Amino acid sequence: MRVLVVGGGGREHAIAWACERHGHTVSIAAELGDVTVDDVDLVIPGPESALVAGIADECSFRKIPCFGPTSKQSRIESSKGYSRQLATSLGVPGPVYQRFEEGDVDAALAWWAEFGRPVVVKLDGLAAGKGVLVPGDDEQTDAAIRSTAPLGPFVLEERLTGPECSLLALCDGTTAVALPLAQDHKRIGEGDTGPNTGGMGAYAPAPLAVDPDELLTVFVQPILDYYASSGSPYVGVLYAGLMLTADGPRLIEYNCRFGDPETQAVLPLLDSDLAELAIACTQGRIADVHLEVRPGATCTVVAAAPGYPDAPSTGAAIRLRGFSTTEWANHSSLEPDAILFPAGVADGKTAGGRVLAVTGLGDDLAAARAAAYRGIDGVSFANMQIRRDIGWRAPGAFLTSYAAAGVDIDEGGRAVERMSG
Ligand code: AMP
Ligand code: GLY
Repeated sequence: MRVLVVGGGGREHAIAWACERHGHTVSIAAELGDVTVDDVDLVIPGPESALVAGIADECSFRKIPCFGPTSKQSRIESSKGYSRQLATSLGVPGPVYQRFEEGDVDAALAWWAEFGRPVVVKLDGLAAGKGVLVPGDDEQTDAAIRSTAPLGPFVLEERLTGPECSLLALCDGTTAVALPLAQDHKRIGEGDTGPNTGGMGAYAPAPLAVDPDELLTVFVQPILDYYASSGSPYVGVLYAGLMLTADGPRLIEYNCRFGDPETQAVLPLLDSDLAELAIACTQGRIADVHLEVRPGATCTVVAAAPGYPDAPSTGAAIRLRGFSTTEWANHSSLEPDAILFPAGVADGKTAGGRVLAVTGLGDDLAAARAAAYRGIDGVSFANMQIRRDIGWRAPGAFLTSYAAAGVDIDEGGRAVERMSG
């Protein structure tokens, strides 16, 4: 097949890689452009912005198969208020919430006072993972409401606690299959501290005592049934961000697309052909295709530019030990057990907040982590930011690999304490 992947980040390079390894001809482009059904057999959009702007609707108009939901359906990601309302009306378990109009500080403060428990503050609209504030105390909550309210409509939600995981479901309009569960690290700092980012690393499969198929039944199937019965079946990835609370799994958010960097961690675990799976989804026959997952684990470490996430500075030369900059610009293996996915890279220089990611593969998470850090240690640019602790939430997997990654064992021990705390 001739596959067009729309976007340009690490996620899109991982999608391209997953299609190319099965012999498909793949191009990556920032936009759909003027391609026709004579040029491509399948379009896979990466970013939510393209989906919200209607790339699937445009493909449908041009009769090009597209693995992604319509603009209208993408509201499930682009409006947190809509998404919560839909989930609640379908009985999907999630936090107590309330939506407020832009500037409505008084109503929000009153609702919070009445609610009487910790809340998180979220912008209703798209904010590239940066529109969520998780205040630590009352003073911070007050400030979060006051700083978010002027920016647009917003949502207050009950603050949940527990490990998080990302469920990525491939949907064909009526049926969904789950990719291996992943966990990502959204905060910039080690130990999951500091501001939220687009994601600093991920690993898969998440070693959690949950059954992905049960999660599909609770969090994905109701949405598919809803869209199917409204006459517009949902085709593409439905990503459910979940928190495993003491009371059971709860919905944190829906995304209408592959996650970044979860995709860089999850797709290397697939033995199946992603393009075949995607085209089957566009034809309503995912149930006919077997999803083959290889044993073992992956770990993805993101290298971000200095200043990320607030104000990344770009233009630094990227050095890659053992490779020339032209060789690696088009996703290539660094080592047999590590894959490099470029993201914010142009002409061998940094050109975005998240610059690249390296995914390590191994028989278990410890081996995958070691491979990922060996790979990323071959990459350097001025003031590169990486987290040395990707995977620390996975019990038992990291103590040995901590040492391999150059983090002292005390830090590993503190991570254990934090984990049990
Ligand atoms: P979101 O963009 O909605 O996925 O939120 C980004 C991050 O904020 C999530 O991955 C969580 O770590 C945190 N978060 C969001 N909603 C909640 C919530 N209701 N309770 C606790 N943490 C949350
Ligand atoms: N890694 C989180 C996201 O893609 O939204």
